[in-house]
Amino acid sequence: MNKHDPHEQLNLDELRDETLVVHGDDWVTNDGTVAPAIYYSATFRAQNSAQFAEMAGTSRHPRYYTRYGNPVHERVKKIMAELEGTETALVTGSGMGAIATTLLTLVSAGDHVIAQTRHYMSTAKIMDEMLPRFGVEVTLVEQADILAFEAAIRPNTKLIMVESPANPTLVITDLAAVVELARPRGIIVVADNTFASPINQRPHDLGVDVVIHSATKYLGGHHDLTAGVICTSEELAERIWQTHISIGSVLSPMDAWLLLRGLRTLPLRIERINANALALAKFLEEQPQIERVYYPGLPSHPQHELAKRQMRGFGAVIALAIKGGYEETQRFVSALKLIPNAVSLGGIDSLVVHTAAMWEGVMTEEQMRTAGIPPNYVRLSVGIEHIEDLKADVLQALQAI
Ligand SMILES: Cc1ncc(COP(=O)(O)O)c(C=O)c1O
Repeated sequence: MNKHDPHEQLNLDELRDETLVVHGDDWVTNDGTVAPAIYYSATFRAQNSAQFAEMAGTSRHPRYYTRYGNPVHERVKKIMAELEGTETALVTGSGMGAIATTLLTLVSAGDHVIAQTRHYMSTAKIMDEMLPRFGVEVTLVEQADILAFEAAIRPNTKLIMVESPANPTLVITDLAAVVELARPRGIIVVADNTFASPINQRPHDLGVDVVIHSATKYLGGHHDLTAGVICTSEELAERIWQTHISIGSVLSPMDAWLLLRGLRTLPLRIERINANALALAKFLEEQPQIERVYYPGLPSHPQHELAKRQMRGFGAVIALAIKGGYEETQRFVSALKLIPNAVSLGGIDSLVVHTAAMWEGVMTEEQMRTAGIPPNYVRLSVGIEHIEDLKADVLQALQAI
């Protein structure tokens, strides 16, 4: 340890999230800047041939070739590993890049995977279509039913994929119970933690092996980048990285820099988002035009007790069922003035989508039924705006149905 470098003496594990996101990466590039520099270079110069050999031979080297690593990636990785409590992290060009790379690393022909009936649509496609093409058997289970996970386990079960809360209906998976089933049998558990964020939920603390994020959502937080993050052990990260460099889902240095900037305010934003979403969910429950509100923070959510046990806050996303059908739901969404009709979630701006309209182009009716998406569902992602302005916009749109 260099006693003249105070950063070397910082114990990151002792820092609270608010401090970690600001200072957790301070010394990573050690280049004297306060704001992080963007290393906009695809390749890095070696000082001599011996150093080149060392760079080429080092796994996950941050200054060799940007598909392999980049100094800005390094900063994001450091903060994310600390936030999720894992040994290390990897970054990818999108959340799907992270999910696909992880699954293609960890399973092989002849293996069996257990996943949920409700997953983000592209993850569901990997389970339904891609893995079976490569000779991997997949069983989909109702995620709220832990006995269904147990019943699905086979001698060749290699991996359990969970997503909680699940897109779009906010059903919760009991993460600790899944780990309890998986661990004694040597089954790897992968959790998509996108809908919670590491501020609201830390699956690795409950024993999950790989924690994945679409960093396009809360982590970036401003709807201006796409990125993915994989938080895991050194051993699994090394294996996943080997696939990553072949698949090439690379995060651009600019997007990594934007992600880093987004991370600085993550705890602040999540605090506001949690408060806004809970207040709006309660407000919506009182409106006569609403059939049902689904939000894990509401006592009316069927898994509220479980949500309270494994989450520290309940996030941005509220699912609503509007009284009526497809047409009434379309009218509600169109009448919103402040809240744009746009996909994605977890950013500073509130966003709304009519779930059936979003997915009817890419899912069959059967797939929509399996995923639990009736025609009158709305997904509302609550941002950091003033709560009274959000309430007013929602109210006038409900009255316009
Ligand atoms: C839960 C979840 N996982 C993964 C993804 C995919 O992330 P990306 O769009 O960054 O590829 C999404 C995107 O909406 C998502 O909601």
